[in-house]
Amino acid sequence: MSEEIFDRVKLVLGEIQSAQPSNAEELEVFRIKYLGSKNTIKPLFAEMRHIPNEQKKEFGQKLNELKQAAESKHQSVKDSLGTPQKSSAGPSIDMTVPAGDLNIGSRHPVSLVLNHMIEVFARIGFSVAEDREIEDDWHNFTAMNTPPHHPARDMQDTFYLKDSTSELLRTHTSSVQARMMTAHEPPIRIIAPGRVFRNETISARSHCQFHQVEGLYVDEGVSFADMKQTLLYFAKEMYGAETKIRLRPSYFPFTEPSAEMDVWLGTETTTAKKLTKGTGWLEVLGCGMIDPNVLDNCGIDSKLYSGYAFGIGIERSAMQKYNISDIRMLFENDNRFLSQFSSAF
Ligand code: DAH
Repeated sequence: MSEEIFDRVKLVLGEIQSAQPSNAEELEVFRIKYLGSKNTIKPLFAEMRHIPNEQKKEFGQKLNELKQAAESKHQSVKDSLGTPQKSSAGPSIDMTVPAGDLNIGSRHPVSLVLNHMIEVFARIGFSVAEDREIEDDWHNFTAMNTPPHHPARDMQDTFYLKDSTSELLRTHTSSVQARMMTAHEPPIRIIAPGRVFRNETISARSHCQFHQVEGLYVDEGVSFADMKQTLLYFAKEMYGAETKIRLRPSYFPFTEPSAEMDVWLGTETTTAKKLTKGTGWLEVLGCGMIDPNVLDNCGIDSKLYSGYAFGIGIERSAMQKYNISDIRMLFENDNRFLSQFSSAF
């Protein structure tokens, strides 16, 4: 008889040990079953009277073990589930504590300048065309009147993709000219902003990656005077209404005639002196009338259409505007530097 009762105790102990309440409801079921006012352990105490005297002590200990096992299981599961928030008690947040600093970030100086340039050209009818950074040789060079072995290829040190002589990181956004002219009929009036790459030694003045905005206008009867007017407008919007520009004759394979445009910054500030190498003139862009070969390469009849193009370096304008003396700062993503810029141009 008493053995049977001992076995029942053992059985209940096994039940308690193997119980695994996994949420608050299951834990409550467990509590009611083993620790509640009508729990399953209580009737076992009543069995004491059937136990022979010499075993009463041992039986008592077993029942206490049972109770303790239930209590400690309940406590440990409760701890592991965490204390649920009592919704009726309201949020446990102190609403009177002042908010901490919000780190909302700011725009990168290159983006600020780029966005402003896009806005300026959008006002006079240029739309934005973006294209790939990994380009093929034909769009980057050959179509742009720079066939293989042309000496002008040396003007731009090129990163070729591994094991490839035809895939490269574009050296200028002029490749987008070829992309646009092969895909669209004139009139074409676009700017193409983007990142370009050249295998150059990194220093305070030059980097192996930078940004350009390409401009392209192709239509019937487009003239050099049209180009000059557009660029003067751009310079005044960028650098102020009193801005002076000069166009210096230059050479690019894809334009004829070609020019470089400088903006007068003067030599008063250290940054202006540094950026202009002491001359006061900041070289801002290259430009020219699109070489008829380029139009023909891209399937546009050069007897019918003419056009102008220009390529603007963005970093130099950003450095001038924000008094940055080292181009490398623009690519280091140092928060102490970046957080100094606001979100407006
Ligand atoms: N692609 C030239 C460069 O990266 C810049 C340039 C010069 C672009 C003259 C043009 C242009 O569209 O007409 O140095």
